[in-house]
Amino acid sequence: GIPWQEIVDVYKTAMNLDGMRPVGLHCHIGSQILDTSPFVEAMAKMMDLASQIVEIGGEIEMMDFGGGLGIAYAPEMRAPTPADLAAGILPVFKDRCNELGISPRMILEPGRSIAADTTVFLTRVNVVKKAHVNFVGVDAGFNLLARPMLYDAYHHAVVANKADRKPEEKYTVVGPICESGDILARDRNLPEIERGDIVAMLDAGAYGFSMASVYNGQPRCPEVLVNGGKAELIRQGEDRSVFLEGQIVPPRLLK
Ligand SMILES: Cc1ncc(COP(=O)(O)O)c(C=O)c1O
Repeated sequence: GIPWQEIVDVYKTAMNLDGMRPVGLHCHIGSQILDTSPFVEAMAKMMDLASQIVEIGGEIEMMDFGGGLGIAYAPEMRAPTPADLAAGILPVFKDRCNELGISPRMILEPGRSIAADTTVFLTRVNVVKKAHVNFVGVDAGFNLLARPMLYDAYHHAVVANKADRKPEEKYTVVGPICESGDILARDRNLPEIERGDIVAMLDAGAYGFSMASVYNGQPRCPEVLVNGGKAELIRQGEDRSVFLEGQIVPPRLLK
C-alpha cells in the first residue's frame, strides 16, 4: 500500500507516465470489523483524497473501500449487517461524489461475512478424558479448521446431537494431531459429552476448507450441501492416495 499522505503525489506521477492511466483509489482497513464507524471514517478520508486528485485533473472511475465486514462468531457478539454498512457509508459517498461531480463505481470487499455462517464443521467424538480439564478428543483437527490454532480464533461449538440439552460441564475439544496446539475449542460449557457424539463448530464457511491441509497424514473431509431436507455431496472426502498425488519419482531412483 501507499501511505495516504503520499497518494496524491504518486497519482500525479502515474498520470504523467507513458503507458499508465490511474483510474481510482483502493484502501483496505482490516478484517473482522464489528463497527461501521471505521468504514465511514475511511470513506471520508478516501473522498478527501479523491477531491485532491480531481483538483489536479485526475480521473476517478472506481473507488474500492476494502475491509472485511465482521461476523458474530459468539452468540453474545453483535455484527453489523450489510444494510448497517450501507446506511453508514452511502450518504457520505453520494454527497461527496455530487460535490466533486464524479460518479465512480463503488467496490466493497465484505470478505467472510458473505460465506462464514453458511457452514458448520462436524466432527465425531472419539474419546472423553477427564483430567485437569475435561478433554473431548474428536476425529478432526486443526488441519481441517485452522483458525483456532492459527489465531486463537473463536468458533462456537455445539453438541449437534444434543443441541436442545442444557450445558452441564466445561469441555476442551481437541483434535487427533500430535501437536499441543491442536485445540478447536477451549473451556466451553456443553451438555454431557460421550464417545460418538457429534460436535459442530459453527461459522466455518470462510477460512475453513480453504485453509485446510493434509498435515500429519490427515486427508481432507468431504463437503455436503444442505438445502431444506436435502443433502448432496459436493466434494469427495480424500483418502490416503492424496499424499502421493503429484509426486514424481526421479527415474534414476527406480533403477
Ligand atoms: C484485500 C482484502 N480485502 C478484504 C478482506 C476482508 O476479508 P475477511 O473479512 O474475510 O477477512 C481481506 C482479508 O484480509 C483482504 O485481504
